[in-house]
Amino acid sequence: MLLRLNVLVIVLRALVTGTYAVGMGVQLPFLCIKRICSMHLQPPPKENTMSTTITVNAIDLLKADHREAEALFKQYEKAKKAGKTSEKRDIARKVCAALLIHMEIEENIFYPSARKATGDDDKLNEAEVEHAGAKSLITQLDKMEADDPMFDAKIKVLSEQIEHHVEEEEKELFPEVKKSKADLDDIGEQLEKAKARLKAARGID
Ligand SMILES: [Fe+2]
Ligand SMILES: [Fe+2]
Repeated sequence: MLLRLNVLVIVLRALVTGTYAVGMGVQLPFLCIKRICSMHLQPPPKENTMSTTITVNAIDLLKADHREAEALFKQYEKAKKAGKTSEKRDIARKVCAALLIHMEIEENIFYPSARKATGDDDKLNEAEVEHAGAKSLITQLDKMEADDPMFDAKIKVLSEQIEHHVEEEEKELFPEVKKSKADLDDIGEQLEKAKARLKAARGID
């Protein structure tokens, strides 16, 4: 009877403090009750009502793509020197997919806007012909194995063509578009959306 009374006292204390009943095998449930109670007493987390809009400048986006392609071509060279054929194949696939997406968003969005804003048809026609040359090499690479004796040569020529094309875009076309009245933030948003759509369609992260 006395033992039952002691147990009752311990249980009541535990309900009040949530820390008693040590050694009675009931400490954990009471601690849980205490934690649940304290959870309900805490104020709900504040909702973040601030919405953030990040604008992407068209030229910044395209330049970032250029740097990505350059980095991938460098990685390819390293894999080639190390004789890592499967790594070469993976990098080649990556850079070709990235270039195809880049060229598509330029041709569908950036070049038409640049043509309208600058009226420089010669430069933009030349850029499109250079894209066609790069696409032709990418189509050839797509049908080849990475251990094909011509694979490295085609990647090398593709990297050189892209290097030349990027230099013309960044030193001539982009500054011309910057000087024009083109809305680079609006074009940037369009480019970003199109790029995300194309990447998702190709299963690229
Ligand atoms: Fe470009
Ligand atoms: Fe281009």
